[in-house]
Amino acid sequence: MSDRSRAGIPNSLQEHWMPFTSNKSFKKDPRLITEAKGVYIKDHKGRTQIDASSGLFCNPLGHGRKEIINAITKQLETLDFVTPFQQGFGGSFELATKIAKHTPGDLNQIFYTICGSTAVETALKISIAYHKARGQGQRFRFVGRERAYHGMNIGGISVGGMVNNVKTFASILMPGVVHMRHTHLPEHKFVKGQPQTGAELANDLERIATNFGAENIAACIVEPISGSTGTLVPPKGYLNKLREICDKHDILLIFDEVITGWGRTGSAFAAQEYGVTPDIMTMAKATTNGIVPMGVVAVKEKIYDTIVNSAPEGAVEMFHGYTYSGIPVAVAAALAVQDIFEKEDIFNRAKNLSSYFLDGLFSLKDIDCVENIRGYGLMGGIDIKMSEKPGKAGFSVYKECYEVGVNFKATGDCLIVAPPFVCEKKHIDEIIEKLRKGINNYNKTSK
Ligand SMILES: Cc1ncc(COP(=O)(O)O)c(C=O)c1O
Repeated sequence: MSDRSRAGIPNSLQEHWMPFTSNKSFKKDPRLITEAKGVYIKDHKGRTQIDASSGLFCNPLGHGRKEIINAITKQLETLDFVTPFQQGFGGSFELATKIAKHTPGDLNQIFYTICGSTAVETALKISIAYHKARGQGQRFRFVGRERAYHGMNIGGISVGGMVNNVKTFASILMPGVVHMRHTHLPEHKFVKGQPQTGAELANDLERIATNFGAENIAACIVEPISGSTGTLVPPKGYLNKLREICDKHDILLIFDEVITGWGRTGSAFAAQEYGVTPDIMTMAKATTNGIVPMGVVAVKEKIYDTIVNSAPEGAVEMFHGYTYSGIPVAVAAALAVQDIFEKEDIFNRAKNLSSYFLDGLFSLKDIDCVENIRGYGLMGGIDIKMSEKPGKAGFSVYKECYEVGVNFKATGDCLIVAPPFVCEKKHIDEIIEKLRKGINNYNKTSK
């Protein structure tokens, strides 16, 4: 019989192969989370921590939201599962209508997936299907960007730009992918918000179009703000330029808004925040407040119409989908989240808290080992000076901060900070104070 409270260390830690984790060191000194309420989480040693990354961008509404729990419970009691192929249930249509109200322009066609990675794969496949349906089947290339994270499936790691994610899997990457340079320039030191320089880096897309033939390119995919490599905020005008080049060559523009979607920038999507409308947009994480896995792809009507109208009457129009595409429990969670977004005017709440958060974050600039800080909306990255090898300093700081009661993720030597939108100013203060303490403790021990 398993321990139902799951408050202690299980009898064996051996069998679970943990993702993106140093399994060997974790199993010697585990960090098990046992409870989460509001903006706080508790670990198996009874220590309380403030959740400074919203469960890695998943839980902007905080933990333990009764409205979501009740909606899920009710849904499970009535209808626990529906096979999503050739049949459906009303909730997923209701949710699609609600999502389409928030998406920019006419990105009104909503395809459900299981997570961010499957949303990205779906977006790539839709691009190919669209071009094929309009007689442009030769468009097979994708343009990605250095320092991008687009999830862990083959398409996503191919268009992504993080070397550790591709080194081992180089032999199975998708063919035809070309990368633009990332937008983080050496002069972007301690820049709050959008950097003034670097918009011309978008011309990399034009160069690629020239070098490889624009007529062969299906789509260009970017995160409006690169989240996983530490909040790389787009230079002013950069995304507009990408849009112009895509329009010129009939290349689809995909925004991966798995992190930036649902208010992180202060607008529903970064697309609206920066005034640039993509052709396809992905989302996940905050869609259900992270509680049930769900990914979403929003697509322009023209793309949907082209694909759907190219198939014979009665035929399946696109051979793509997942067993868990828009299952009732995920839909119920997402609908409850939509209600909270509306009732609590949540995107404005994020917008209003942003300058307080960014001021706090940038106040850490004076700490010895802090090399750079970036931030936009309610997301920020703190670069810690590398020690010996990449990632060592970041992980050490993470552990020191964990000890002093602030929880977040470090990617390489960058600390990813993204407070829940339901934070009050006192919570932001607590995050910043504890970050200072944890980083200073690392400074003392590393000397
Ligand atoms: C921009 C972006 N795309 C895709 C993904 C993959 O999402 P998931 O882990 O839900 O598959 C992530 C995850 O962090 C992400 O940040």
